[in-house]
Amino acid sequence: MKLAQSLERLGTESAFTVLAEAKKLEAKGHPMIHLGLGQPDFKTPKHVVEAAKKALDDGHHGYVMSNGIPECRQAVTRWIKKRYDADVDFERILIMPGGKPTMFFAVLLFGEKDAEIMYPNPGFPIYESVINYTGATPVPIALKEENGFAFDAESVLSQITKRTRLIIINSPANPTGGVTPKSEVDKLVIGLKDYPNVAILSDEIYSQMLYNGRKHVSLLQYPEIRDRLIVLDGWSKTYAMTGWRMGYAVWPDQMVDQVTRLCINDHSCVNAAAQYAGLAALTGPKEPVLKMVSEFDTRRKVIVSALNELKGVSCIDSAGAFYAFPNISGTGLSSSQAQDLFLDQAGVATIAGTSFGTFGEGYLRFSYANSKENILRAIERIDKILT
Ligand SMILES: Cc1ncc(COP(=O)(O)O)c(C=O)c1O
Repeated sequence: MKLAQSLERLGTESAFTVLAEAKKLEAKGHPMIHLGLGQPDFKTPKHVVEAAKKALDDGHHGYVMSNGIPECRQAVTRWIKKRYDADVDFERILIMPGGKPTMFFAVLLFGEKDAEIMYPNPGFPIYESVINYTGATPVPIALKEENGFAFDAESVLSQITKRTRLIIINSPANPTGGVTPKSEVDKLVIGLKDYPNVAILSDEIYSQMLYNGRKHVSLLQYPEIRDRLIVLDGWSKTYAMTGWRMGYAVWPDQMVDQVTRLCINDHSCVNAAAQYAGLAALTGPKEPVLKMVSEFDTRRKVIVSALNELKGVSCIDSAGAFYAFPNISGTGLSSSQAQDLFLDQAGVATIAGTSFGTFGEGYLRFSYANSKENILRAIERIDKILT
């Protein structure tokens, strides 16, 4: 059999590989603390689960519209208006099976040989993977520790060429926990006026997870780029719904038909009951989300300060999401050596910074979606190895 050559260019998400390794070790009797996978260790709020059950009881068992049930899309529109004071026609909203398909489709829409697509590095590994898959050239936006892992608008703009089709940005960010300040977003948007043919994909999946009084800056707040802006958001992280596969995206008018066609070719529609659950999440009580984010905030302080106590390790504040991204270069270990050592010898699953791109060398991602007790126990075990 001969498989398509393009598959050789497709990357992966190492968090799942590390998870499989960690599970194997666990099965052999090695106790494991999981700080690898990026998913909240909370349950989906009860009222959301109830809404899905009711939808099933009410008989919502069949296909629904490919772009999402109107009630859910309208709820997203109201939510966007309330949060960002932005008016978005609900026909521009697509309900998707998670956040990932939006990034896949956005890159498919622009990626081909001779095209350049810019993406954050270190950043979510699927961006680079899919850009490569399409045959486009991935152009990294280097995120630096000294900038709090925020992007620098000038350097993004300076890398634009005639071949640039799409710029991907992500704040709050995976894997760094970095949040880009409004001043940089403003600068980027102003600079983009000179490049009217360049589209933007803003991955805002962690839009409700910011700390220390920081406020999320959505690209939806900039009407001047609305006609070329794709916003990715969803329920996975905010409502602890990673397994439900529920995401939404805002698309420019002119791309809605093409992306809907991709949805029809790919998945037909998103599970109807899950959409009713998503609707309930947006319209129901906010307390479960606030409680979860406040717990992440407590753990964030615990993990950042504990990491800074480790020999050869330093960690800047995690401003958003639920990741700490310490600099481990003082340990003398490479990122992958540290990942393997901590997994095998300490029973702690973390992810090498290089899994998120070449600029991740010297760093390790810790997800603090685990209890305070487990976080402290994990750091204690690592401490024993490093001293
Ligand atoms: C930055 C970023 N975008 C998108 C996603 C994908 O989310 P989903 O699980 O909804 O596909 C993730 C998941 O880890 C992420 O970290």
